[in-house]
Amino acid sequence: MPFEKGSRRKDGDDSLEAFISSDYLSKPMARIVVVGTGHVGLVHAVAFALGGHRVIGVDVNARAIADQSRGRPTFFEPGLRDALRRALRTGRLSFSVDVAAALKASKFVFLCVGTPSRKDGSIDLSFLRAAAKTVGAGMASAKGYRVVIVKSTVPPGTAEDVVCPALQKSSRKTAGRDFGLCVNPEFLREGSALKDARKPDRLVIGAFDRRSARVLTEIYRGARCPRLVTDLRHAEMMKYATNAFLATKVSFANELANLCDAFGGLNVDRVVDGMALDPRINRRFLKAGLGFGGSCFPKDVRALVAAGKERGYTSRLLRATLQVNELQPLRAVELAERAAGALEGKRIAILGLSFKGGSDDVRESRAIPLATALLKKGAHVVGYDSLANDAFKAAVPEIEVAQDATSALAHADVCIVHNDGPEWRDLTAADFVGMRRKVVIDGRRILERGALKGVELYVLGG
Ligand code: UGA
Repeated sequence: MPFEKGSRRKDGDDSLEAFISSDYLSKPMARIVVVGTGHVGLVHAVAFALGGHRVIGVDVNARAIADQSRGRPTFFEPGLRDALRRALRTGRLSFSVDVAAALKASKFVFLCVGTPSRKDGSIDLSFLRAAAKTVGAGMASAKGYRVVIVKSTVPPGTAEDVVCPALQKSSRKTAGRDFGLCVNPEFLREGSALKDARKPDRLVIGAFDRRSARVLTEIYRGARCPRLVTDLRHAEMMKYATNAFLATKVSFANELANLCDAFGGLNVDRVVDGMALDPRINRRFLKAGLGFGGSCFPKDVRALVAAGKERGYTSRLLRATLQVNELQPLRAVELAERAAGALEGKRIAILGLSFKGGSDDVRESRAIPLATALLKKGAHVVGYDSLANDAFKAAVPEIEVAQDATSALAHADVCIVHNDGPEWRDLTAADFVGMRRKVVIDGRRILERGALKGVELYVLGG
């Protein structure tokens, strides 16, 4: 990332606050345009600007651009509001809807546009194609060499077969000679995206040619992490492969939890502890629960399966990864039925509605299929999430949302803890006193068992 040696604060304070509140570099370094100011684009634009670069964030959504230029992020990400405002105050970050104007003085153009899923799981590249076309048109009249970098997650071959031709056609310039082209996947996690952008734990740079790679590496000079330079297609596949592997680990852990339950008397975390003694097995992402959600894992695995199918390959393992994930929320429904009998007319509280704790994002949240299945059984479902109530209500309007956990739990027959929000870890028996019957299902294996005396506790995976 753009942190030059010696640019760190002398006191060595490496926290997010230190990052946001320090000016790091005052000397302008690279000039960057970020096309697409959604989650990935805005976070990178802010991180680059705070790192000393001059950045223009561009988007076709004029309202988002107006908000962002006033220091109002268009989505929730911890620390982003402060960081955005700080970056704007440095004068190094600005926003525009005009790609051509933004391109004029810029050497680096990051394409961070959305790639929505189609019904069959494949991804729609029309925004990327359109962005490449517009960037190409801007480059037609702009002098100088610049590198276009694809950050959006795309199937192998997209940069070469879609982005490159669009750029060449509308710029009437030649890749490799007149401009550079790279694929530089992002590995941001929601909730720690700013930290991840500032201090990546690895860098993957796929390049059209050596010069593109060399020029792009300039802005990552200060990054102290492993880096790998490869061709465009490999970089694209590395991003998909990483997410597909992590998602498969999660589904494996869930499969193991279900097997532990089938045997009885087995605790999946204890089994994983034993597995992880093998130096070849890393226990991260082997936390069993109600499945994976979010804007990346489900979408990327489906996209890879669909892209393989288009090329004549049927992925069995990745389809199983998805299938386990689809069925996993239903495990909580089964447990609820086993504990409380028929669910018709029962009041069921779901704590944690977003796809993971500390987020307001309900995209692909496993609470959606969970709530839907409970509603289908005739249950009255009441959910609570300190950040995601509104978004969840919009996704599943039939549920009731409560203003706090106590109201959600009042007179409930069953409580299902759906996500790993830190607030659920501290729940004690006293928090469940208002329930009609104290049946609690720990869908993420996070509750403190010792603190729940008198509660009928069911833990997925033993
Ligand atoms: C994920 C990856 O972790 C990032 O590295 C990647 O950059 C990002 O996708 C992306 O492609 O942009 P994110 O979607 O923010 O990041 O979420 P994660 O923290 O990875 O969690 C994904 C889901 O898996 C959550 O629903 C979480 O609860 C679940 N999970 C995760 C488990 O059920 N068990 C685990 O052990 C780990």
